[in-house]
Amino acid sequence: IVPVAEDPFLCQYKGFTFVKDAFTPEDIDLLEKFEVRGSDIFQVAYPKSGTIWMQQIVSLICNENYRNGSENTTNAVRSPWIESNFSNQDYSKRPSPRLFTSHLPYYLVPKSLRNKRGKVIYVARNPKDVMASFYHFEHMITLAQESPDFEHFLKKYLAGHVFAGTWFDHVCGWYSNREDFNFLFITYEELILDLRSAVIKICQFLGKQLDDHELEKVVEQSTFKSMKVDPKTNAMPEDFFKKDKENFFRKGTIGDWKNIMTVAQSEMIDKIYQEKMGDLPIKFVFDI
Ligand code: A3P
Repeated sequence: IVPVAEDPFLCQYKGFTFVKDAFTPEDIDLLEKFEVRGSDIFQVAYPKSGTIWMQQIVSLICNENYRNGSENTTNAVRSPWIESNFSNQDYSKRPSPRLFTSHLPYYLVPKSLRNKRGKVIYVARNPKDVMASFYHFEHMITLAQESPDFEHFLKKYLAGHVFAGTWFDHVCGWYSNREDFNFLFITYEELILDLRSAVIKICQFLGKQLDDHELEKVVEQSTFKSMKVDPKTNAMPEDFFKKDKENFFRKGTIGDWKNIMTVAQSEMIDKIYQEKMGDLPIKFVFDI
């Protein structure tokens, strides 16, 4: 385990940056051997990319609109972060389809997921909005070292010294290795611009048929407005947040990065984007 000098809350293990208090090396090592079922659904995202949004959408689709008693459980219970406290969990009794959430890079997820067993839904968001959201998030939670300003954050960020390392490695790693998985790549911006079509796309990938009424309900319960006031979605542990936890659902838009980045910072990110992602056939919407 390698400590991260700038941030006492973080450490690196197997090339990935973790929050010290939220993981153990044993969890990560054991997880490799986890037996994936063909019906398992993994929702994976780099932090601040719409992880909880996808948890909500997928769990609504799979639980038939809260009709299976899941209305009493939080998102994190319906679709737990698999890397969290893994060695103390027994997922073997969970009924199928089991839903899991993860921020892990492609090379740390269970080996058996790589044989196209189970399904992976990877949600990605444009890196500038991710960085803006991450910067604000740092100021909200107890397990992060606050950066004094965005410039400071950006330096730390680009060195990979934030939870989950850099966006570029995560997105590029997953996308480049997508052929190894049963894989749906979807962007946060697609969800923002046409949530209904995105939900249909996810249903198709999962082989789920919802009638119009069910579809409308999933869409309605997955809007920013609904999720912000849904106690089961907006349900982080109390000690996780420094301030009002409602801030987690902060803006939920495309282009908020413009309120925090200078032109020079934005151009620098464009340049890095071109170098690292230029060859990949994926496009992000940065502005509407
Ligand atoms: P902002 O900080 O830009 O508002 P994650 O769950 O991966 O941590 O991502 C959090 C980001 O997703 C936050 O972005 C949050 O507001 C946004 N988000 C969560 N639910 C959303 C929804 N239903 N619609 C739009 N954005 C949503």
